[in-house]
Amino acid sequence: MKGVILGGGTGSRLFPLTKVTNKHLLPVYNRPMIYYPIECLVKSGIDEILLVTGGENAGDYLRLLGNGKELGVKNLHYTYQEAATGIAGALSLAEDFADGGPICLVLGDNILEYVIKKSVDVFRARPEGARILLAQVQNPQAYGVADIDGDRVVNIIEKPKNPKTNWAVIGIYFYDNSVFEYVKKLTPSARGELEITDVNNHFIKAGKMAFDKVEGWWADAGENIDFYLQSCIRVSQTGANHPVD
Ligand code: G1P
Repeated sequence: MKGVILGGGTGSRLFPLTKVTNKHLLPVYNRPMIYYPIECLVKSGIDEILLVTGGENAGDYLRLLGNGKELGVKNLHYTYQEAATGIAGALSLAEDFADGGPICLVLGDNILEYVIKKSVDVFRARPEGARILLAQVQNPQAYGVADIDGDRVVNIIEKPKNPKTNWAVIGIYFYDNSVFEYVKKLTPSARGELEITDVNNHFIKAGKMAFDKVEGWWADAGENIDFYLQSCIRVSQTGANHPVD
């Protein structure tokens, strides 16, 4: 299975830190933010990675990461998202890279205490439908929020005003190759984006959505300045991307 990491966006929520650089190149404790999702995939057994860049500083990625060998990436590919079309819009750029196979999509500002090898292994063994990761949060209004019933996700609502649960859909998703056909049918949401939540609800309706609960902490480093600071502190205290037994 191949990995797709999204590293574009304007980073407006971290302005002015992002005035002259890409959000994902900012330091999180002692390393650039983008190192963490790359390391997470590599340590989880995915070393064929496409990085979707965007914005004015995309060239800096090449200077920082080169061919990815230093981080254990076997082949690091790059592409460029020309407009802010949302997560699902960025995902559509990965169709040729996926080459008919399943993919693991990761938002470049998501940092985890533990790697996701268990989920990778499960989806790799049976790459059908979709699989998401859920984490309990104190501010579900900021996320896609999952309504769960036993081992089933019933529905996901994007940034609900009155969330039914505190289970946030984190920015790590597994999809079979049919996702690329579905993304072509999407229309932009009220915020003008092709929403990954619409994609996820499609798989839920088809009865093809599974989920795992995140082990340890999950940090959404790009959400706002306080979360950014919190992610630096968490990484400094425990480190990130630890193996799970
Ligand atoms: C996006 C998704 C949301 C998800 C979140 C995870 O939100 O739309 O469903 O919970 O990433 O970080 P955004 O960062 O676009 O606000």
